[in-house]
Amino acid sequence: MIRKLKKVFEKVTGERKWESFPQVIQIDTNNHCGPDWCGVYCNYCYPQWKIVRGERKYAEMPTNAVELILRQIARHGKHEMDLVDFFLNGDGFTEPRLPNFHRYSKKLLPNAITQTFTNGVRWENYEAAMPLDRVCFTISAHTPSLYKKIHRGNHFEDALHGLELTLDARKQNQRVEVHCVITKDNYPHLRNWWRFFGVNYPDAVPVISPLVGSYDNAPSRLAAGELTLDQMEEAVIDVVGGEGRMWTRELIPDEKPCVLWDNMSVDVGGWILQCCNWSPPEDVNYGNVYKMEEEGYTLRDAWRNRLENRMDNRLCQSCNMKHSNHVKRMADMRVRA
Ligand SMILES: C[S@@+](CC[C@H](N)C(=O)[O-])C[C@H]1O[C@@H](n2cnc3c(N)ncnc32)[C@H](O)[C@@H]1O
Ligand code: SF4
Ligand code: SF4
Repeated sequence: MIRKLKKVFEKVTGERKWESFPQVIQIDTNNHCGPDWCGVYCNYCYPQWKIVRGERKYAEMPTNAVELILRQIARHGKHEMDLVDFFLNGDGFTEPRLPNFHRYSKKLLPNAITQTFTNGVRWENYEAAMPLDRVCFTISAHTPSLYKKIHRGNHFEDALHGLELTLDARKQNQRVEVHCVITKDNYPHLRNWWRFFGVNYPDAVPVISPLVGSYDNAPSRLAAGELTLDQMEEAVIDVVGGEGRMWTRELIPDEKPCVLWDNMSVDVGGWILQCCNWSPPEDVNYGNVYKMEEEGYTLRDAWRNRLENRMDNRLCQSCNMKHSNHVKRMADMRVRA
């Protein structure tokens, strides 16, 4: 109640206060996906493009590092935390430790929602994801031929099978989503995509999102082709109506200057990133969880440095997910004590 009143006061006075800890944390427990792990290589995927080019290696975050992050969240952000995501650059169905991560998370953070994302193809592993509060699928096509074009693999039926197994085993209150990332190839067919999943999988919540872009994200640029972000956002609103609009810039809630302002991500190399948008971690980071204890800082320190940086970095400057009024929103921002 007090928090609500505070927010109303801030809105009336025009002074926005930002939380002293992120609401969403993404943990890159492994970066296993792409041709070697799943037989798909989505044409908009930055992290797997880096791996295929030999600029990154497959890796797994040690369990004790994942637990350290969860302990830090419990210590510094417990009351504010909304979502703990176990994925970033890999695939949820390649992570057998999900049940342990979920258990540890619920023990320390009973109110935080646990979630993963998957392409669904490695469906034989689906049971590991079932303890989570949410399982999200990304299947950006509704026919085998379109699937092949976008996900660059012949696995449309496998992806659907993964979705079906999950829906069949779903617990009451467990949320299952199916996402479509817009590219030049599926743009003309978005209504059909929406209808296909709505009719055949009514228990899965459909979401359509535009492509996130920034200075180093060549796959995203290529996947967009001539399609502009305005066109993608119009399509989301047009097809989706009132739901699933979280990725459109003009509908970003008042308190946020960009789509991912409440998100912090830690990649498999331990780098504490700006958010889950992509760039080389050496370019923009706020420390490394593998060195955090030895060097005497916490995730809260990293988050405060991130807020203090105020988009003054290459990734944010080139990012397409900023609100048109982000400069003013940022100037009004104060950090909640
Ligand atoms: C990198 S994937 C990792 C999880 C899983 N492999 C999957 O594809 O769902 C995380 C999410 O980011 C989406 N994604 C990847 N590149 C994107 C981009 N440039 N713009 C918007 N979403 C993107 C994926 O489609 C997926 O929904
Ligand atoms: S399924 Fe996810 S991680 Fe794998 S290639 Fe596609 S977007 Fe990238
Ligand atoms: S502006 Fe910065 S924090 Fe916001 S979505 Fe873009 S990269 Fe992330």
